[in-house]
Amino acid sequence: MRTEQPKMIYLKDYQAPDYLIDETHLTFELFDDHSLVHAQLVMRRNPERGAGLPPLVLDGELMELLSVKLDDTDLTADQYQLAADSLTLQPRSDAFTVDTSVRIHPETNTALEGLYKSTGMFCTQCEAEGFRKITYYLDRPDVMSRFTTTLIADQQQYPILLSNGNPVGNGPQEDGRHWATWEDPFMKPAYLFALVAGDLWCVEDSFTTLSGRDVALRIYVEPENIDKCAHAMTSLKKSMRWDEEAYGREYDLDIFMIVAVNDFNMGAMENKGLNIFNSSAVLARAETATDAAHQRVEAIVAHEYFHNWSGNRVTCRDWFQLSLKEGFTVYRDAGFSADMHSPTVKRIQDVAYLRTHQFAEDAGPMAHAVRPDSFIEISNFYTLTVYEKGSEVVGMLHTLLGAEGFRKGSDLYFERHDGQAVTCDDFIRAMEDANGVELGQFKRWYSQAGTPRLQVSEQFDAQARTYSLTLRQSCPATPDKVEKLPFVIPVALGLLGANGQELPLRLADEASAVGTSRVLAVTEAEQTFTFVDIPEQPLPSLLRGFSAPVKLSFPYSRDQLMFLMQHDTDGFNRWDAGQQLSVQVLQEMIGQYQRGESLAMDSRLSTALASVLDNTELDPAMVAEMLSLPSEAYLAEISEVADVDAIHAAREFARKQLADGLFDALWARYQTHREVSKATAYVAEKEHFARRALQNIALSYLMLSGRPEVLAATLEQYDACDNMTERLTALAVLVNSPFEAEKARALQAFAEHFKDNPLVMDQWFSVQAASGLPGGLERVKALMQHPAFTLKNPNKVRALIGAFAGQNLINFHAADGSGYRFLADLVIELNALNPQIASRQLSPLTRWRKYDSKRQALMKAELERILASGPLSSDVYEVVSKSLA
Ligand code: TRP
Ligand code: ZN
Repeated sequence: MRTEQPKMIYLKDYQAPDYLIDETHLTFELFDDHSLVHAQLVMRRNPERGAGLPPLVLDGELMELLSVKLDDTDLTADQYQLAADSLTLQPRSDAFTVDTSVRIHPETNTALEGLYKSTGMFCTQCEAEGFRKITYYLDRPDVMSRFTTTLIADQQQYPILLSNGNPVGNGPQEDGRHWATWEDPFMKPAYLFALVAGDLWCVEDSFTTLSGRDVALRIYVEPENIDKCAHAMTSLKKSMRWDEEAYGREYDLDIFMIVAVNDFNMGAMENKGLNIFNSSAVLARAETATDAAHQRVEAIVAHEYFHNWSGNRVTCRDWFQLSLKEGFTVYRDAGFSADMHSPTVKRIQDVAYLRTHQFAEDAGPMAHAVRPDSFIEISNFYTLTVYEKGSEVVGMLHTLLGAEGFRKGSDLYFERHDGQAVTCDDFIRAMEDANGVELGQFKRWYSQAGTPRLQVSEQFDAQARTYSLTLRQSCPATPDKVEKLPFVIPVALGLLGANGQELPLRLADEASAVGTSRVLAVTEAEQTFTFVDIPEQPLPSLLRGFSAPVKLSFPYSRDQLMFLMQHDTDGFNRWDAGQQLSVQVLQEMIGQYQRGESLAMDSRLSTALASVLDNTELDPAMVAEMLSLPSEAYLAEISEVADVDAIHAAREFARKQLADGLFDALWARYQTHREVSKATAYVAEKEHFARRALQNIALSYLMLSGRPEVLAATLEQYDACDNMTERLTALAVLVNSPFEAEKARALQAFAEHFKDNPLVMDQWFSVQAASGLPGGLERVKALMQHPAFTLKNPNKVRALIGAFAGQNLINFHAADGSGYRFLADLVIELNALNPQIASRQLSPLTRWRKYDSKRQALMKAELERILASGPLSSDVYEVVSKSLA
């Protein structure tokens, strides 16, 4: 816990380190009630800094210092200074070694940062600043070192001892303990260090790289999970091949290991050669994991694997550059997932997520640039902006430079900076140098926060046969008060003629047309593009594939949106036209609700979705996406003042209208797809995902009818299916239905059957926490008493509390403030247990400015109560204080 005012750290204050650590030799003695860490650091003065020998300040927290030596001489207490977060000593020569021994307590570490225990095994999480809780060190990513690690532990309890790199020796000791030594030949910053000790089983496979090197692949899990590793292993091999083909990147060690742990703050961690994963991001098999979970495992395995180049071989100079590795790696894993499945569906899902959650972050009190320029607690900056918007920024470079130019740039980046710790500017410079272009203005995407608006208007001149688009960009102010200068906004577009045909696109100053879909780079606050040879009034299809992370507006009529839904050649924009139509219709109904009128839905929405449903040519996964109405969270995000009651009422009414209006078509589609599912064993592949996606969204609409044949079908699917995708959908449909007896029976049977599988129980918690039926808070409170629930496990917290506060808007925002009080109480409790999780769970409260004045007051009062609740972690302090500022 914080003892003094936490201090803000600024990018502008960055200085290279005074000292370097060439070699790091670590020995861990692991015991049940404490652990000992011996470190030998072979150090020297950084030649890039001036002459002289400034004091050496090593980072270190929460450790008991047992001894410290400088060049083999024990230092006495007057020869060093010990503070709560550092150990300072005075070097006497340019090159020297520092030896320290410390005692730490992984067995009581509930923050899950540094060395900790998770269900009986030792593991580490060092990114971003966890290594300083393991030993005294220069814990910053621009200090890179060669690591040798020896682990010593009880042989029976911890037969498996792992660390980064290659195994170089192991053996028993007389006392029932044993040791293993690992050597990592690659220089790395401390945040990529890892160790694992436990009683683990592993599945083994191998991979031969393009250049013929054999790599041993191992996935380590608790024995009972050995049957749930195959999907992750397949995903790993696909990722390794893809990175060779798409980016020319090969793996570089003889062994690559993944370890699954149950207690983990995030999804996974890319430690060199030894990735540590949340078990939810590794384990998957038909009976226990949904299609979405299978796709998430595949994407996270790929993401962490891709970090071996974008993050490890080329790392970050400082934590302000976090998006250098995260934005780029998200971009890379999105490309991989697109290639493995449907690119259009992947894009739709990513954009829906970005527009709902990242746009909200960018409009809230924690808004920050992709490369932030200050922070209090770096753990708070593993955000949607750094990851998802960061990926969009890399994607815009791809759009502007073209596939070939982008690849030239990434090749140069990896080649030029291999083994270095670099900045976002270095990444851009590689793109510039490889392509002979200048990207100075483009770099504003890294320094200016906020979501740009792009207002588009049109002018058609029938006489001159010209069609002009005028684009005006602006960006709202953000708390950092950075001035907003115009961005470079790539706008991919096409023009549709009256029959839906694409018109050739020739700009006024061009000799001939350049295709029918092209990218305009908007660089000014206002800019007009004029197309010539346009014979008729066209309909523009704008921002195809969501070519820039902006809020675009164009005054489409509902009929025009229906036309685009049918005719646009860009699949993403066909979906987006449907979303815009839904938004218009829903917003009209939100207005009706607010005026106390009875609700009436524009039947064009139902007509449009009926033709989508009738179109058997369309990928069923696309049909499923198009049938999904914009989420309540998205409708809240795009509202000036979010009226949760009106949003919920309007959306639920629309769902019921659609269910009634489309009943026969939905029922036919459901039955056909369920029959195929019955006749087919589960396969985790794209056509199967698509079939089940449509089957399942159809079922959730159908149940709104309350008809007995739908209840029977739901129970049949629940009982007879062979996979979690169908089972969990059936359960969710029952949970949200009025059939109390069937609901209770299914919930009970599910919990009984899966009580020993914590990941499945997480899904059981989530389905109930997210249900918008009345009484949500009471249900969640009761579930917290369930034996499978614990606040100490982040997956449990996310499954129950996260799902309630993040997905169950109508219950969380109860007018009496009970949801807010509940969340604040939990944040106060979690603050003491696990600051990173506490701070993340807090985020729904930080959005208080979005709501009506009564709710604003209630939410603010809870934030103030948290602030006054006692000593806060820097994580929670930063988020609460910035939200109230
Ligand atoms: N680098 C990890 C990733 O792939 C992020 C991460 C894992 C992390 N564990 C963490 C960040 C703990 C902060 C704290 O995205
Ligand atoms: Zn990452």
